[in-house]
Amino acid sequence: MGFPTIRPRRLRRTKELRALVRETTLAPDDLVLPLFFNAAIDVPHPVTTMPGVSQLPVSHAATEARRIVERGVGACILFGLPRAKDPEGRAGLDPEGPVPRAIRAMKDAVPELVVMADVCVDEYTDHGHCGVLRTLPSGIVEVDNDRTLEILAEMAVVFARAGADVVAPSDMMDGRVGKLRVALDASGFESTSILSYAVKYASAFYGPFREAADCAPKFGDRAGYQMDPGNAREALREAALDEAEGADMLMVKPALPYLDVLRAVRDSTTLPVGAYNVSGEYAMVHAAADRNMIDLDRATMEILTSIRRAGADFILTYHALRAAELLGA
Ligand code: PBG
Repeated sequence: MGFPTIRPRRLRRTKELRALVRETTLAPDDLVLPLFFNAAIDVPHPVTTMPGVSQLPVSHAATEARRIVERGVGACILFGLPRAKDPEGRAGLDPEGPVPRAIRAMKDAVPELVVMADVCVDEYTDHGHCGVLRTLPSGIVEVDNDRTLEILAEMAVVFARAGADVVAPSDMMDGRVGKLRVALDASGFESTSILSYAVKYASAFYGPFREAADCAPKFGDRAGYQMDPGNAREALREAALDEAEGADMLMVKPALPYLDVLRAVRDSTTLPVGAYNVSGEYAMVHAAADRNMIDLDRATMEILTSIRRAGADFILTYHALRAAELLGA
């Protein structure tokens, strides 16, 4: 007498049974919508490489805030395109710049909306790098870590003063989380959270974003400060450092090519962990769907569920509004 056949399929028979035993769920309030505010435009300007995504004029901020809460999306994260750029990214420190103005408009319209602001100079520098440059005696040009920290700290305070709930440094300079925490506390913003882009790889998948935020480096690449795709142990070191420096939340970026890293970071900390489903990941799905190679909505939900399954508490994604609609919130 053999054993009876073990039948996992019993629990897959109906959608109700499948829902009952589902391990990973996705909800609109797990999602964070990235937005690009451009100081120099009066009407939305479509980003050609990202179907459905546009740079927005600041005058649209309040409407956008209402749309996000109506769909039940958890938060938004703001990027800015200034009118003019310089080598140090000083436009990012202007309280009348696109991001501070958009934050104020969104928080005035919908005070409960969680507003995050990306802290980095690449959107504001004329050379497009994530820091201030210096030339070494050897003639090599590199990003000056510690001078960049001063600007980042000032930028975080400007965004906090405008009303950001969360500031999110994405520059990958060493020591920036501690620097931001001290600066925020010293200015009375001890309640403003820091979401650190703790584990950020030098990735080809940021291509469309660089059009959206007009921040492609004019020379060289970002491999001198962003992480090497081959490294996973280093991700845990970066995460631990940012936690020790006072980060409230950690992020892994990009998401899909680094789900193993996301899982490892999730298992190494008790802090909330987010993942950034970046512009290139979004563009790929749209490109394939446009050619009828895959179903856009099904692929979107499968991707977002997989990022959650790998350990993300929340996901930054350009799919946020559509996914929330599909989830029926
Ligand atoms: C840097 C920053 C980048 C992204 C978010 N913040 C670009 C980069 O490092 O080159 C990429 C996000 C995306 O691709 O969706 N401020």
